[in-house]
Amino acid sequence: MQADLRSSWRIGSVEIPTRLVLAPMAGVSVQAFRRQGRRYGAGLVCSEMVSCAGLQHGNERTLGYLRIACDERPLAVQIFGSEPSVMAEAARMVEDAGADIVDINFGCPVRKVTKTGAGATLLDEPGRACSIVRAVSQAVSVPITIKMRRGLEDGSRACLELGPRLVEAGASSLTLHPRSARQMYTGEADHSLTAELVERVAVPVVASGDVTSRTRARAVLATTGAEAVMVGRAAQGNPWALSEIVDERPAEPTREEVVAELILFMRETVRELGEVRATGFLKKFYGWYLGRGRFPRLFKQELVQLATLGEVEERLVAAAPGADDVLERLETELPDGEDVLLDLPISIYGGG
Ligand SMILES: Cc1cc2nc3c(=O)[nH]c(=O)nc-3n(C[C@H](O)[C@H](O)[C@H](O)COP(=O)(O)O)c2cc1C
Repeated sequence: MQADLRSSWRIGSVEIPTRLVLAPMAGVSVQAFRRQGRRYGAGLVCSEMVSCAGLQHGNERTLGYLRIACDERPLAVQIFGSEPSVMAEAARMVEDAGADIVDINFGCPVRKVTKTGAGATLLDEPGRACSIVRAVSQAVSVPITIKMRRGLEDGSRACLELGPRLVEAGASSLTLHPRSARQMYTGEADHSLTAELVERVAVPVVASGDVTSRTRARAVLATTGAEAVMVGRAAQGNPWALSEIVDERPAEPTREEVVAELILFMRETVRELGEVRATGFLKKFYGWYLGRGRFPRLFKQELVQLATLGEVEERLVAAAPGADDVLERLETELPDGEDVLLDLPISIYGGG
């Protein structure tokens, strides 16, 4: 039986209103991205991976990842690391910050992370991976979830052996991106492995990888028996993909809608990261929003040359004059940013 994408499901005690999860993406999944994802139909959103060592050392930027807004919940915060005790301490900080779920990264293939024994490396170290999950689940009362790849090497089936052990150690849900770490993002996600994992565990499994449309989402749910699908790259600069998947709403927005969402995203990101960091961070989003045949390629190149975000906004509105009205409507519908931020239990200025 095919699950309705608009139906709710649960991870432990947490109710998730739709079958669509917004993927954690480093350098992308800022609060503005997550709040937008919730508005467009994601039932659960996730922070990018947060270093447990950074949290342990009170690194200011790392602590900033624990700023949570109430209108993005339910929210998972993802942590990565290799030491069970440090991961447990990080999980406590995540729970204190107001996250509904602690997600653990056993999938990151990037060398900077794997060389520290974290991320996908743990797929090859089941004993340590289980110790981490046990330590984290003893440390917090919110559900623990795991996000993993199929294994380190192409063709690996490590996830199928490891999955049930992680559940036994305390995981309440598993997300599988069935590519090997070596594959990075090449080839295709092999969701026949997702179907096998579903058969082996009694907790919800989320299918991640190459879900880009409603047709694909329904096919993956039907063929794997997964509880939900996760969408990553298809939602970059394109929240309309989410509403198409959940509600069958047309995926193609007007130019005014695109510009209005981009400007809103820019303003929220400035509030979150500050103008200096936001200016660099936002550059890749121009291509994502304005690409897909929505605006001429040269227009994006023009925007990245502009010195200030104020100038970028002006150029955007000049290119789609009706965007002002759409933006005004969007801003009145949103709860005020200052009101929705939950208090951070830890000073992000390292005790100062
Ligand atoms: C830019 C980028 C950053 C990512 N960062 C993370 C991360 O921090 N944690 C994680 O578990 N997965 C991360 N992923 C993997 C995605 O969550 C997802 O599993 C993968 O992109 C496959 O899904 P998709 O085909 O829908 O993009 C990242 C992917 C991309 C493209």
